Amino acid sequence: DAIAISQSKGPSAGGGADGSMLLFPTVEPNFSANNGIDDSVNNLIPFMQTHDTISAGDLIQFAGAVALSNCPGAPQLEFLAGRPNQTIAAIDGLIPEPQDSVDTILDRFADAGNFSPFEVISLLASHSVARADKVDTSIDAAPFDTTPFTFDTQIFLEVLLKGVGFPGSPNNTGEVESPLPLGSGSDTGEMRLQSDFALARDSRTA
Ligand code: HEM
Repeated sequence: DAIAISQSKGPSAGGGADGSMLLFPTVEPNFSANNGIDDSVNNLIPFMQTHDTISAGDLIQFAGAVALSNCPGAPQLEFLAGRPNQTIAAIDGLIPEPQDSVDTILDRFADAGNFSPFEVISLLASHSVARADKVDTSIDAAPFDTTPFTFDTQIFLEVLLKGVGFPGSPNNTGEVESPLPLGSGSDTGEMRLQSDFALARDSRTA
């Protein structure tokens, strides 16, 4: 939702953090880069329907701020209301994918909102509290670090370790070998995105 905005393509490409993924739930969740976002969309739509004075964009930002407050270590985010409801869906192709090169990712964030390489890595603190369901469909909820419920710097440390294997099946698009692929009990091992690996080793973002 939020990254679906483009200075070069203009306003018709998408309005960024405008709630369009909730307002056009049969369009944006179907973009391949959004695979898995339907969980959040389907959970938020009932709130949107029962609170019709709250815009979809405000609802998503508020939900994000509340969600983050559940993770120990996370900052308390300021929430500002006032986004109008979007009238168009965003176009496909604006969401970065894990198989994208560092050049492509940095260009995309710069085009979206003049984000610097430093700011892109700061935003990737989000992968401290993230798990993947769709990169490898043979496993559920593969975390990107060993502390997926704690907002900490562990992802930035673990992404530098040597990759030794995959938590599930090999040869998935956008995934590279992880340093800690072994699971325990019902927990899968850690997954490493190709993009996180590449960003951690590029001179502009390492
Ligand atoms: C640099 C480009 C980025 C790429 C290529 C990328 C890619 C991905 C991928 C492939 C997943 C796993 C989806 C799945 O299989 O379920 C994921 C999860 C996630 N990403 Fe990113 N991401 C990027 C940047 C960001 C940013 C900037 C944020 C937020 C500020 C973010 C927040 C998250 C969160 C919260 C999850 C976990 C979702 C969940 O647990 O259901 N990512 N990302």
